[in-house]
Amino acid sequence: MSLYKSARWCCLLLSLVAPIAGYGFGESVNLGTPLTEAEIERVDITIFPNGHNLPVGRGSVTEGRQVYFERCALCHGDSGTEGPSHRLTGSVGLFSIWDPLRIKRIQEVNGLLVMSTGQQWPYATTIFDYVRRAMPHVNPKSLSNNQVYAITAYILYLNELVDESFTVDRTNLPSIEMPALKRFVRAK
Ligand code: HEC
Repeated sequence: MSLYKSARWCCLLLSLVAPIAGYGFGESVNLGTPLTEAEIERVDITIFPNGHNLPVGRGSVTEGRQVYFERCALCHGDSGTEGPSHRLTGSVGLFSIWDPLRIKRIQEVNGLLVMSTGQQWPYATTIFDYVRRAMPHVNPKSLSNNQVYAITAYILYLNELVDESFTVDRTNLPSIEMPALKRFVRAK
């Protein structure tokens, strides 16, 4: 075997053995620190459309109304329509041409779209997810799970999707059908 050929075999052999020898069998790279259960609970907050990952808890429309007036009405208006921030009920966006808020918006901010949570969002579970992670705007993640359930119930009530005696929990929230679902096309 020429010198060149033996060098080539050596290189090949080394490249196969080196990774195994380097890390050793069954050894992990040992980077980072495993999260505790409490930490996982704090960061793993994505709620899926089918309700997967919804926490234990419940909240009624009546409780939600109270939280709403204490923490949300300031920006979303007493009825969820006046703003100044996003509209939570009413308008069906592009579909309601004569919505008074749209006309005001066209005149004032030259914007066409009037979004409303209740009419634009396809899944009720997203209301829970969004409010829990992002609202109130000035102090996100400050609400308890029960308060978020209650607020979700109240927003659904404002949109006439549940009645006043309704209590939302992890089992019934995914089954509430949002009017916007039919406007979405599922990508395969
Ligand atoms: C200080 C003002 C402020 C307060 C208080 C506030 N919000 Fe908001 N909210 C906003 C703003 C601004 C946005 C738009 C945020 C964005 O698009 O990034 C918003 C967006 C939302 C949306 C999404 C609207 C949409 O259809 O896109 C929901 C739902 C919502 N807020 C619910 C709540 C709830 C529930 C509370 C009370 C717990 C609350 N907000 C308190 C300012 C506020």
